[in-house]
Amino acid sequence: MRTFLFLIATVFFSFSALCQKSTTFKPGEIWPDNKGVHINAHGGGILFHNGKYFWFGEHKVEGKKGNQAWVGVHCYSSGNLTDWTDEGIAFSVSNDPESEITAGCVIERPKVIYNKKTGKFVMWFHLELKGQGYKAAKTGVAVADNPTGPYNFLKAVNPNAGVWPVNYNGELISKKFPENLKDWSDEWIQAVKDGLFVHRDFEKGQMARDMSLYIDDDGKAYHIHASEENLTLHIAELTDDYTGFTGKYIRVLPTGHNEAPALFKYNNKYFMITSGCTGWAPNAARLLVSGSVMGNWEYIENPCVGTDKELTFHAQSTYILPVEGKKNAFIFMADRWNPENAIDGRYIWLPVQFNEMGNPYLEWIDEWKLSIFDKK
Ligand code: GAL
Repeated sequence: MRTFLFLIATVFFSFSALCQKSTTFKPGEIWPDNKGVHINAHGGGILFHNGKYFWFGEHKVEGKKGNQAWVGVHCYSSGNLTDWTDEGIAFSVSNDPESEITAGCVIERPKVIYNKKTGKFVMWFHLELKGQGYKAAKTGVAVADNPTGPYNFLKAVNPNAGVWPVNYNGELISKKFPENLKDWSDEWIQAVKDGLFVHRDFEKGQMARDMSLYIDDDGKAYHIHASEENLTLHIAELTDDYTGFTGKYIRVLPTGHNEAPALFKYNNKYFMITSGCTGWAPNAARLLVSGSVMGNWEYIENPCVGTDKELTFHAQSTYILPVEGKKNAFIFMADRWNPENAIDGRYIWLPVQFNEMGNPYLEWIDEWKLSIFDKK
């Protein structure tokens, strides 16, 4: 009888331990969902809708092959940001070999925003065509009636074909660039600054690789992407329904080599954290600031402090999440990639802190709770 009671008690306690909600963030560790499976939503972003958070990210599979899209975009939901329920695949790759989103293409950094006017959920993602490496540099868009999907693929484009950036010096529009400039020569760097690639891609549309979305206070949405061979970021305005480009776009820090953009607004300033361009390998993050989304972005510094600050704690930015119901509370979300076994990529979530200058900074914390934002 005793053994039986002991057995019952053990089963009960293990079960309640399993059901117990975890309230801490443990950056870099396995992060189990409600089924006990490591969350599979890499290069992700978060939508807050009707009191719930929805996390969208790249569904990776095992091995090196996992760097391509074989399944689609995975969605999870949560009320408290630490416990996540698996909501399944919100956007699926196609099994039609002719489709741009056929299995084996590359779908990266999906982000979802809600359009109040149309009542639709709009997902944008970086798309590369199957078997073409990173040549296509397109951005794709899909829409859904529910946050968890299914999202229907509308189109993929190289944005802003046939239009010049709004902050482009008019004289450069008629500039003729010398041919065969040697990559990284001083002349080449100057030519890229002057818009060599904007000219090259003018008819077909601009390149769009690492991307993010941002909705400003007036409801206007922006698509931020690494363009011009990853040398220059572009920030482009989206149409009112968020499914297209208006043609209004700016170049940000030409030749600055920024990717993995993540934006947020604090104290009337717009901040952006980016990375340098070293593929899956981590590098030092960069902090930029501007008075408006389409304004004049300036580099401030590496926002990371402490050990591994030069490697962004072995991770790369993907999103900055404003915490609902808390003032000036933002979570920096980054990926610790594992290109050899893509599914085992880890998530680095850290609270954004602010220094006496009012600038954001990031420091490593092994384990933390949302209450960190209350201690100010
Ligand atoms: C990184 C980029 C990732 C992925 C990777 C491929 O620079 O941020 O999203 O595209 O390159 O090498």
